[in-house]
Amino acid sequence: MSLESSKPVVLLRDYRAPAWCVTDVELEFDLDPAATIVAARLVVERDPAQPGAALRLDAEQIELLEVRVDGEALAEDRYLLGADALTIPLAGDRAVVETRVRIVPETNTALQGLYASGSADSRFLLTQCEAEGFRRITPFLDRPDVLARYVVTLRADKARFPLLLANGNADGAGDLADGRHWARFVDPHPKPSYLFALVGGRLESIEDAFVTAEGRRVRLFIHAEADAIGRCGWAMQCLKLAMRWDEQRFGRCYDLDVFHIVATHDFTMGAMENKGLNVFNAKYLLADPEQATDDAYRHVLAVVGHEYFHNWSGNRVTCRDWFQLSLKEGLTVYREQEFESDLASRTLRRIEDVRVLWRAQFSEDAGPLAHPVRPDRYSEINNFYTATVYEKGAEIVRMLASVLGRDGFRRGLDRYFERHDGHAATVEDFLGALGDANGVDLTPWLAWYGQAGTPVLDAEAHYDARTRQFELTLAQHTAPTPGQPRKQALPIPVAVALFDADGGRMPLHLDGEAAAGAPERVLTLAADRATFRFVGVASRPVVSLLRGYSAPVRLRRSVEADDLVVQIRHDDDGFNRWFAADALARQLFADALAQGAPAARPLGLWTRSLAETVGDAALDPALVAEMLTLADANSLAETLAEVDPEAVYRARAQVETALAQALVAPLLARYRALSDDDVGDAVDTAAQARRRLRNACLAALCRADAAHLSLAEAQFERARNLTDRLGALSVLLSAQAPGASAALDAFAARHAGDMLVLDQWLSVQATQALPETVERVVALTAHEAFRWANPNNVYALLGAFALRNPRAFHRADGAGYRLVGEAVARVDALTPQVAARLATALGGWRRLEPVRRALMRRELERLAAREGLSPDLSDILARSLAG
Ligand code: PHE
Ligand code: ZN
Repeated sequence: MSLESSKPVVLLRDYRAPAWCVTDVELEFDLDPAATIVAARLVVERDPAQPGAALRLDAEQIELLEVRVDGEALAEDRYLLGADALTIPLAGDRAVVETRVRIVPETNTALQGLYASGSADSRFLLTQCEAEGFRRITPFLDRPDVLARYVVTLRADKARFPLLLANGNADGAGDLADGRHWARFVDPHPKPSYLFALVGGRLESIEDAFVTAEGRRVRLFIHAEADAIGRCGWAMQCLKLAMRWDEQRFGRCYDLDVFHIVATHDFTMGAMENKGLNVFNAKYLLADPEQATDDAYRHVLAVVGHEYFHNWSGNRVTCRDWFQLSLKEGLTVYREQEFESDLASRTLRRIEDVRVLWRAQFSEDAGPLAHPVRPDRYSEINNFYTATVYEKGAEIVRMLASVLGRDGFRRGLDRYFERHDGHAATVEDFLGALGDANGVDLTPWLAWYGQAGTPVLDAEAHYDARTRQFELTLAQHTAPTPGQPRKQALPIPVAVALFDADGGRMPLHLDGEAAAGAPERVLTLAADRATFRFVGVASRPVVSLLRGYSAPVRLRRSVEADDLVVQIRHDDDGFNRWFAADALARQLFADALAQGAPAARPLGLWTRSLAETVGDAALDPALVAEMLTLADANSLAETLAEVDPEAVYRARAQVETALAQALVAPLLARYRALSDDDVGDAVDTAAQARRRLRNACLAALCRADAAHLSLAEAQFERARNLTDRLGALSVLLSAQAPGASAALDAFAARHAGDMLVLDQWLSVQATQALPETVERVVALTAHEAFRWANPNNVYALLGAFALRNPRAFHRADGAGYRLVGEAVARVDALTPQVAARLATALGGWRRLEPVRRALMRRELERLAAREGLSPDLSDILARSLAG
């Protein structure tokens, strides 16, 4: 079948500098939800190398009222207004172009451009411009390599819109006739249009202050609706932590006199880094113990940090074009990861990031939507805010940082910011600055940006007791991906340490070197295959490989269960302890899938070592909790040629239950110890780690034996924070405990009206691995806590179902696919970006067993046959079905 996406394909190799640029912008807004008038005054300049080119301004979904050039109104035959552009032939090299347009925020459910949010009685207006939303506000050269200075004046009814905000520093305000008022803002930093923002409405505020290392006094504000403002204190603390950390770790100071954050419940993504005026999905901003889980607290820290860090990695230095998106996103995710790692638990953050990489990025790389970190083509750029661009992009930055060392990386980043400040840069610029500052050539690393697919790293170890030599052979292979049949070798840094059978560190002496080097080192595999020979190795070593997950590759090696146990017990890299436990669990899962049960000896080794781990009070409880939590089904199934999701579910459950049953005594002891010494509602890292382990123990205990459900009931009753309450609720539901439905009702009643907590309530139901969850989810779409137009609701219910409940989603009769297909169609009419994201769940059909393969494919085809699909969804469907 052929399905043409409705937008033309844009190619990286076709990039051309803009024929015209805009140096200065003056915008005037008369804000009104039903009809907002936008007057723009643009100073435009021609690129002398492109004589004759007309001025083409992007413009979508706006009603044009007037066009003037150098003060003179243009007759309609002097310009051309198309569906996506306003084209004006201009004779000279410089002009002042003025436009006046009308836009309608209150019907804008796409949540791009100017739209309305907030409760019915207090609607407020706000903007979202990345990637291409500014063209829905005013005609403009809406591309990231056009940087201009902005002066923005807002006018609105003072009673309905008492708060008026735009990017930059405030530059005057006052009253107007008829109960209206105005406010003006000047942003001294030239910026691309995707960083433009305004907010107008009745919001409550909290204020704080920060003095930068350069001595600038910055006023900090967070604005939210009245019922949410009391939950913004944690975010304010996080902001100050982020500002200080970026100064200390990367020497980056803030550069305006004011920094605003605004919360909204209507947002398609996590948050947005608009210059000096960040807009946040409330989900990543609000936190208090009654209404936020520990994970939510950590996400607030991470996302507040992320958006703040964009002020340098993204705003001061931006992207030349959208192909370079990872230049800001990969780098900023890396900076966010380091921020949380420095402030909270490095090991836990690393484990979580690797889980996300496996679940979201490896699967993307293995499916029809695979693309390089720097794509070479797109038809709808909104569809490239992906795990590949974000998470794999961050992994590339992490590898570069490990290769250059902490100081070298800092030097390189300093050079990058200094060289490209105020400009739009490329991946080549980034590698160039990092390389120049360190006197190395980093061009081989470009291949990581250009090549899609997850490299498989094969490792073979060979020890010769007679010569006391140890050989490690590493080989890499990347399977073809759409449009890239042939792959090249990538530079792969492999961090290695050797342990003896008792867990003692062994020296690392590479053959040919004068002496043993550091006991941990990074070997770089630059070719298809290489052998590293170590000499003077006293006994057969246990190899700790890819320490800290030093490269985003899939490690394949045959390794003895006994060796993994040595690592589980002794590895001094917390991540690799977990990685070894995961590797052993994967072996048991593979046995269970192939032979109907995990093999007894490795199972015994695994459970005995984890029993010790559970009893080890010296270990970080968060790490122990993670070691008790098996990889999710999709990740376990990743290497299977053909997937039967029900069989995968059963094999995984078997391994999980075997572990729980073998560990009842230590789990119970640990659960009791953690309960006796309850940390209440404290939210520091240590308290969070303890709760994490306590909830992991509870889940395992109830899985081992329903007799332990009384513990869950008691925890649910007594919980003093959302983490414990939700943890207990989830256990009661998965055990189908008699009290489960009463607990669900009690939870909903307690949190009535709290959208974010009710989203968790929707998710905990949508992720129950039971066939009848399909009907439950259908019923919940009619619940008063659910609205189709709210992206958080859609992700909490349907996203959780499609992406985190493989058993129910893949129900053999196709009911799960139907449910998601219909939801996609319904959401597409409201919020195309969200529909496109949800539709990616249907992309994995090729690897399913034949019956489900046909059912899922049919669902995609049914969707593709519908009229009036958005470009976002058409693009995903076309690529999912292609080939
Ligand atoms: N640039 C935002 C971030 O990652 C993400 C985003 C993209 C938000 C597009 C809204 C729209 O920080
Ligand atoms: Zn970002």
